[in-house]
Amino acid sequence: MARFPIDEFKELATPFYFYDLTLLDRTLAEIKRTSRDERFRVHYAIKANANPGILRRIQASGLGVDAVSGGEILAAIDAGFHGEQIVYAGVGKTDAEIRLALNNGVGCFNVESEPELDIIDEIASSLGLKANIALRINPNIDAHTHEYITTGLAENKFGINLDQLPDIIEKVLRLDHINLSGLHFHIGSQITEIEPFLMLCETINRIQDEWTERGVEFKTINVGGGLGIDYADPDRHPIPDFEGYFKAFRNHLRLRPEQELHFELGRSVVAQCGSLITRVLYVKEGTTKRFAIVDAGMTDLIRPALYNAHHRIENISSPNDVKHHYDVVGPICESSDCFGKDEMLPAIRRGDFLALRSAGAYGEIMASQYNCRTLPSSYFYEK
Ligand code: LLP
Repeated sequence: MARFPIDEFKELATPFYFYDLTLLDRTLAEIKRTSRDERFRVHYAIKANANPGILRRIQASGLGVDAVSGGEILAAIDAGFHGEQIVYAGVGKTDAEIRLALNNGVGCFNVESEPELDIIDEIASSLGLKANIALRINPNIDAHTHEYITTGLAENKFGINLDQLPDIIEKVLRLDHINLSGLHFHIGSQITEIEPFLMLCETINRIQDEWTERGVEFKTINVGGGLGIDYADPDRHPIPDFEGYFKAFRNHLRLRPEQELHFELGRSVVAQCGSLITRVLYVKEGTTKRFAIVDAGMTDLIRPALYNAHHRIENISSPNDVKHHYDVVGPICESSDCFGKDEMLPAIRRGDFLALRSAGAYGEIMASQYNCRTLPSSYFYEK
């Protein structure tokens, strides 16, 4: 069990996100070590967590940013990232967002459709600028992950299907205010096997070979994000296997000389450093169940309700050996407001603190105010 400064928690209003900055720094150092290759550029997918305290740490470590909205571009710039360190993706970029991105000199637009290309060209022309773009390809690879977070299949809304690529490339090369920098891929999230990434490498090799034959070379290849984490046992794997991940691309992707390889990692960077800390309000004995009713709800951490995800739950107040089964539920008026069923936990009393682990990614950032609740606050911890 991770160590939490429980005595300090007693003064704090719950629920809140607890961030272990020491673990975040160790994770960032490991990314730096294992991605050491002059051709590699790692971007942090800011959608996973845009808390300014977290962003500043990530910025200081030298990573770039993958943004999917004007708001994310501004959050990155506020945290000290430079425009050229930002890549900007998304199927529905508005005109205002495109203008904002161009005015801030974002490094690359990851373009998801032909009509989007026309609009970027038009807006860049009106500003007297040239937009760097990568075409997002839908590689039709099954990443074996939850259907809501798989993105690389032909039926998904993302990217350009491979059979449309020749026409689009031909068009891009004719547009005056667009500079074709490369190709972008992303096959899904929470991928815990290396196999789908190897399939991605094969697909990219094949596509590159075809285009080399036609005399087109790309300056950048962006393989997206997706590296998964150990939700079941965060203390066994507090830092994901970045070594194996980067090695897979180093060994299997045939990069051209001078070509850059871009990554967009979100979850694997921040998930394990965060926990949602909540207080137990009531222990309620039902006829068939015992409920631990906590003050955090699906509004604070929606992943269990939305994806059926499970975050490890720990009773960090009680070292008690006597264990019981509990359904750990929140206060929101929805039956899906449940963090765990039949959880075997040390005997819970009113006032105990529970930690919902691995909540640093897609936790705080996805919080809502449903039921007129206040958003959770955050607490930073350094050893
Ligand atoms: N690049 C692109 C184009 C993406 O769409 C995503 C995530 C990433 C990078 C970062 O992927 P990561 O390294 O974090 O797997 N809310 C969901 C996850 C949605 C992911 C969406 N795209 C969850 O809580 O599981």
